[in-house]
Amino acid sequence: MKIAGVDVKDLKNEYGTPLYIYDVEHLKRNMEGYLNYFKSNEFETEVLYASKAFNVKEMVRLVKSEGMSLDCVSEGEIYTALAVGFDPAKIYFHGNNKSYAELEYAISNNIGTIVADNVMELEVIEEIAAKLNKHVNVMFRMNVGVDAHTHKFIVTAHVDSKFGVLYGSDDYKKILEIFKKSKNMTFLGFHSHIGSQIFDLNAFQAAAEKVIGYCKDFDYPLVINLGGGYAVHYTDADAPIPFDKVSKTLIDTVEKELKKQNVKIKKLAIEPGRSIVAEAGYTLYTVGFTKKTPNKEYYFIDGGMTDNIRPALYQAKYEADIVGKENDKKDHIVTVAGKCCESGDLIIEGCALPKAVPGDLLITYTTGAYGYSMGSNYNKALTPAVVFVENGKSKLAVRRMTFEELIEREV
Ligand SMILES: Cc1ncc(COP(=O)(O)O)c(C=O)c1O
Repeated sequence: MKIAGVDVKDLKNEYGTPLYIYDVEHLKRNMEGYLNYFKSNEFETEVLYASKAFNVKEMVRLVKSEGMSLDCVSEGEIYTALAVGFDPAKIYFHGNNKSYAELEYAISNNIGTIVADNVMELEVIEEIAAKLNKHVNVMFRMNVGVDAHTHKFIVTAHVDSKFGVLYGSDDYKKILEIFKKSKNMTFLGFHSHIGSQIFDLNAFQAAAEKVIGYCKDFDYPLVINLGGGYAVHYTDADAPIPFDKVSKTLIDTVEKELKKQNVKIKKLAIEPGRSIVAEAGYTLYTVGFTKKTPNKEYYFIDGGMTDNIRPALYQAKYEADIVGKENDKKDHIVTVAGKCCESGDLIIEGCALPKAVPGDLLITYTTGAYGYSMGSNYNKALTPAVVFVENGKSKLAVRRMTFEELIEREV
């Protein structure tokens, strides 16, 4: 099996397993797809990469070279971006509980836009901006109350969400007052993110209609950011909408709705994360022991919930192959289980695979988003290496952790 012209067995020999593999051409195709299709003649457009999905220096360099903007949710993500010279003006800083130190870091580093999430945060931004004698562009995250029919853990816009503020609420009124009086903040516009792995574009249409309505409270054209959340293909049960259709539908919807509600906006932004990186990523493992129980057959791999927590966290589904046996009869229905001391450390249940023996390589697909970035060192597992592959060549993006590094911060 080859990815971007590179034999995965060679990758195993060079970098070991578990190993995250990213197909650079695929990443570029996704980024360029959004950049090319998400355009309007009626307002400016901007595509941000939601870096929480996968934020390492090499990825940020790619985002930079493709000309996208960046969504960061922590000082750590911003720090990584600035470390590779990412333009701070193109960074949006999100998060429901940014610390004073994080806001100070962002403001003193001239981060282009802070997306505030609650009333208290606005007060802190104003205070820090005044102290540092800076002027800050601020957007506000709204809870548009749209149910995106996705897994309940990744829906973010129900009424009691920890994210954003409800239109018309007391908090909303306070926000308007704060911006009216503010000397150090400019209110740019509204942000909404309704959830993740969403297949139904109607949910975004509903969100867009609402946010456009909110713009009427202001007498100048605002920026609207509709967030991310576009679904990807994990298994054949998923029928995601391609980026050209997502982009065109969102642009059309917003253009129509602006006319209908007689509103003008300055800019429309989106911030996909998963749909940029998920399908471009693979995880390579080595099969260890196998075992049969009365009702199950297990293939154990040398990684697990430490490199991919999503199945344990919200029953995410994946597909896999045994490398070199892709075309063999898949006559074993197995549970692919990790090596952690947790019964829930199962990467795939009910996976049809051919017979595997210790030493075989098992590859899982669509692991580019929220795998590395949600990884842990549970059971003192070493963080795997990350490799980028393109045109028959591989490039190390993250070196595998060493045992010295594992304990170096411990006193
Ligand atoms: C505010 C915000 N924007 C963008 C995203 C990216 O979502 P996705 O990776 O599903 O595109 C998220 C993810 O949770 C988010 O919270």
